[in-house]
Amino acid sequence: MIRKDKQSKITPIIGLQWGDEGKGKGVARIASGLSGKDLIVRFQGGNNAGHTIYHKGKSYVFKLIPSGVFGKAQIHLGAGMVVNPVALEEETKTIPKGISFLKRMSVSPHAILTLPTHILLDSVSEKTKGKKKIGSTGRGISPSYTDLTLRRALRVGDIFEKDFKKRYETLRDEHKKTLKNDFEYLVENAELKDKEEKFFRSLKFLRSLRVVNSSEIVEEALEDRRKVTAEGAQGALLDVRFGHYPYVTSSHTISSGVGTGLGVPPSYIGGAIGIFKAYVTKVGEGPFPTELGGKKSAIWCRDEKFTLEKEKFPNPNPNSDDEFEQGVAMRRLGFEIGAITGRLRRTGWMDIPLLKYAIKMNNATELVLTKLDVLSDFKNIKVCTDYMINGRKTSKIPFDLSRVKVKPVYKSFPVWRGKLSDYGNKLPKEALNYIKFLEKTLGAPIIYVGTGPEEHHVVEKYWK
Ligand code: GDP
Ligand code: IMO
Ligand code: MG
Repeated sequence: MIRKDKQSKITPIIGLQWGDEGKGKGVARIASGLSGKDLIVRFQGGNNAGHTIYHKGKSYVFKLIPSGVFGKAQIHLGAGMVVNPVALEEETKTIPKGISFLKRMSVSPHAILTLPTHILLDSVSEKTKGKKKIGSTGRGISPSYTDLTLRRALRVGDIFEKDFKKRYETLRDEHKKTLKNDFEYLVENAELKDKEEKFFRSLKFLRSLRVVNSSEIVEEALEDRRKVTAEGAQGALLDVRFGHYPYVTSSHTISSGVGTGLGVPPSYIGGAIGIFKAYVTKVGEGPFPTELGGKKSAIWCRDEKFTLEKEKFPNPNPNSDDEFEQGVAMRRLGFEIGAITGRLRRTGWMDIPLLKYAIKMNNATELVLTKLDVLSDFKNIKVCTDYMINGRKTSKIPFDLSRVKVKPVYKSFPVWRGKLSDYGNKLPKEALNYIKFLEKTLGAPIIYVGTGPEEHHVVEKYWK
């Protein structure tokens, strides 16, 4: 047991919106300053995550491996995660040969395994939902977590047992039954055979990894007063309980998820670093009060492809009178295309009521503002400060956002001249005004601002 006064605390890195806020870049930045004794852990989610980082001029997308892999720190895939071993092995191959990370990487025996039939269940159930679909990433995440609560999931620790194959077959057959009875979907043996072979081949790789309890590895590090960073996936508004249910993912994405995801008490969790974009994006279905172009945008992003959008809007105008076109321009300028699914991300203005909700829930004591550069071509930055609901101004989030008509109340800020990158490490006064307004309104300091996708595209806090 750690003496309370001796231990350091875990720092959660949490996305404060609907994911894709730039968490990967934030974690990689922290990782570059860590030693080989420090620890970076993932505590929830699976390969539904897509965390992009630029390293030495190349871009990488991490799904299961913590984004700190290019640093020296130990990296750990925690108990609260779902692990697709095929995807994990493939991901390790994307990392350059010169980076020796396998010795620094460990995985929890409690992490849930994603089976090939979980992926089928995810896509088939989404298809049959029609208009009511969630817009999942199709990676089998929800069926994998469902099996945890049904108390029949297979976990990483199980692969070392002699009866694993038998248990696998029993669960697979349960899945086939559900597919047949609930969705009238008959699994062809040939369809599954190839996937199963790949799955079992990847278990060999998974067995070669160090398997350790998350709580042990974290406690040890905290006892030594080493730094422990918990990399959140998805975002606070996708939390399975406190996001916009049912348009959520299936895990606890908020900072208290660090406790259940690693098996450590709440007192071990320090203030979170909350990451948010200078605007908002969302992939998949669900309410989005500040969406540019409203319903039209939601349907467009569900049905269209990026290549087609480029043909139809070769030069979208960020200052168009048509909000839908403004949204297309925001997507183009921010390159808002799903990192793993290639889907169009829906775009809209920053939503302060939602941000405040997320900041409180996560105890975000420090903030990071990303992608401010993307707004350089707009004449004005709009920020939703409150909602009008039934003719009344409020900043309280309704229980079910999708069942009420919300009209955002906006405040506008003028934009600087030229590109933000032209200003180097001194931000233009218009940007500073906007940042100071955010700090005051959100009640926490912005510790740095993202001014481009690469590692060095960052301006550290120098303003008061
Ligand atoms: P994550 O899921 O939160 O890690 O975010 P993603 O990687 O899915 O999406 C963020 C995207 O924005 C990636 O393509 C990043 O390279 C990029 N990015 C991150 N920070 C900035 C920034 O400050 N400016 C710009 N222009 N791009 C950024
Ligand atoms: P990162 O970590 C953005 C969304 C999906 C869908 C909903 C449920 O890169 O920020 P799921 O596959 O989890 O059952 O999908 O959640 N979603 C994400 N959106 N970024 C992510 O991860 C996401 N992971 C899941 O689009 O709406
Ligand atoms: Mg992402």
